[in-house]
Amino acid sequence: MELKKELEALKGDYEKKFEEINNLQELQKLKAELLGKKGKITQVLKNLKNVPPEERKEIGKLANQIKQFFEDLIKAKEQSIKDKLLEEELKKSQIDITLPPFWIEAGAPHVVKETLKEITDIFVTMGFSVAEGPEVEREEYNFDMLNIPKDHPARDMQDTFFINKEGYVLRTHTSPVQIRTMLTKKPPIAIVAPGRVYRKDADPTHSPMFHQIEGLFVDENVTFKDLKGILKKFLETVFGENISIRLRPSYFPFTEPSVEVDIGCTVCGGEGCRVCKSTGWLEILGAGMVDPNVFEAVGIDTEKYTGFAFGLGIERIAMLKYRIPDIRLLFTNDLRFNTQFKGI
Ligand code: DAH
Repeated sequence: MELKKELEALKGDYEKKFEEINNLQELQKLKAELLGKKGKITQVLKNLKNVPPEERKEIGKLANQIKQFFEDLIKAKEQSIKDKLLEEELKKSQIDITLPPFWIEAGAPHVVKETLKEITDIFVTMGFSVAEGPEVEREEYNFDMLNIPKDHPARDMQDTFFINKEGYVLRTHTSPVQIRTMLTKKPPIAIVAPGRVYRKDADPTHSPMFHQIEGLFVDENVTFKDLKGILKKFLETVFGENISIRLRPSYFPFTEPSVEVDIGCTVCGGEGCRVCKSTGWLEILGAGMVDPNVFEAVGIDTEKYTGFAFGLGIERIAMLKYRIPDIRLLFTNDLRFNTQFKGI
């Protein structure tokens, strides 16, 4: 019965030892000492064969009970150590929810793009579809076929950027999209063509790159009245129902007759100010009935069809609508300026 006492002593001893333990390494060490291959209880079980047969059963049972007891104890201890570690870890990495967040500034579309979209949408609502053309354009489409011959003084009106590719220019207006459309489509045609254009120009109201939108409507029996109606509706939508509108006779090579369209000054309401140069009026767009020479250049029957066209500068509209004093503000990307137009 020596072995029995030894086992009971072992139990008491190790129970205490385990109680004092508070880290996983020590726990493993102690476990090995007791239950490992050469562990104390393992040894007892191994030596069981040397025990007199009448005691063997009792000792064996006791050894197994003690083994089970420690296995359970070790499992529980291991869990409690792990729980404690986790708790400490969580305490260390506690989040201070009172700290202010890092603010990520959300971007917004640029005022020029927004105005371009707004204007395009107005015409789309009226039934126009959107057409596009390249910014590097054939000289022929930009000038000749629009009834602007080589030696025509009108070419000087639009200071052209020539590029080192024979017969091509940076388009000076969106009007060549008229030509491209009429070369590929038969009337009825109703398109608007928004996009970038380029001119050798730079001052507070002119930029070497700016945006235009072109309109073209071709069908049987299209009259000047139709043009007037469309433009009136468009200008009232952009500037409000109360805007005054004036048509002045003008000249463009691709339209005949041609007009320039003015609206009552949005700054002074018509009284006269610096923006309208004391005239009370602001020039907004150019328009007219498509010149028969243009129709002939693209092969449209001038006996059967008539049409109107118009073109306007997007930056100018944006400047008037939002009272922006210098066009360069639109292109310098100063966030103090740009962010003022968020959500317009
Ligand atoms: N292309 C002209 C310009 O850039 C604007 C323009 C005027 C377009 C009259 C037209 C038009 O279609 O009929 O100054």
